[in-house]
Amino acid sequence: MMVVSTGFEPRTVELREGTKVHLRPIVAADEPLLHEAVAAMSERTVYFRFFSPIKRMSDALAHRLAVVDYNDRFAIVATTHRPNGKERIVGVARYDRARGTDVAEVAVAVIDEFQRRGLGSALLAELARVGRSHGIKTFSLIVLPENREMLDLLRKMGWIHQAKLVGGVYEISFELPEPA
Ligand SMILES: CC(C)(COP(=O)(O)OP(=O)(O)OC[C@H]1O[C@@H](n2cnc3c(N)ncnc32)[C@H](O)[C@@H]1OP(=O)(O)O)[C@@H](O)C(=O)NCCC(=O)NCCS
Repeated sequence: MMVVSTGFEPRTVELREGTKVHLRPIVAADEPLLHEAVAAMSERTVYFRFFSPIKRMSDALAHRLAVVDYNDRFAIVATTHRPNGKERIVGVARYDRARGTDVAEVAVAVIDEFQRRGLGSALLAELARVGRSHGIKTFSLIVLPENREMLDLLRKMGWIHQAKLVGGVYEISFELPEPA
């Protein structure tokens, strides 16, 4: 197997209530697992992530989300194993750099069954570290005003540095913390 250096060291983290998940960079072979993850999300979670009530992503979108260059586009997935040993994706955080800049748009989603155990925050904190190591200084994102989960998460992390209500959605941006 070819080993690509991505700047992110895979690791296992323990969430609230002792749930263990494995964090690793996304790989192209994750495309079917991304479809399964979307299928495991409630309509609300899908809508807040994709701004559209999709039941299934197009194959083109799943492919684009699974294939990244680990520099301008990066995604970290959180995985667990089903009782039959098959891996499944329970959360994803990604960034996509605006060409030639140090600003990247970020998106995160956790399947409903795993929400509220600290996974969304853990994924974003890791993504911020990896983004910083690839020269990203600012994350931006669009959040629907009714998405209190994400707004509270960003507030809790101290990450809402600027928020503008534009056309009924919040455009939020925050500077990434300096590396420790
Ligand atoms: C937003 C999201 C990623 C949060 O993931 P998560 O794993 O549940 O988040 P965490 O467990 O790390 O929660 C961190 C903090 O966020 C806030 N929060 C999370 N879910 C919340 C909820 N349902 N209600 C209120 N606050 C909430 C809380 O402050 C929470 O801290 P606390 O549990 O100690 O009170 C998840 O709800 C999700 O996937 N939503 C749909 C996709 C989405 O909205 N993405 C953002 C736009 S791209």
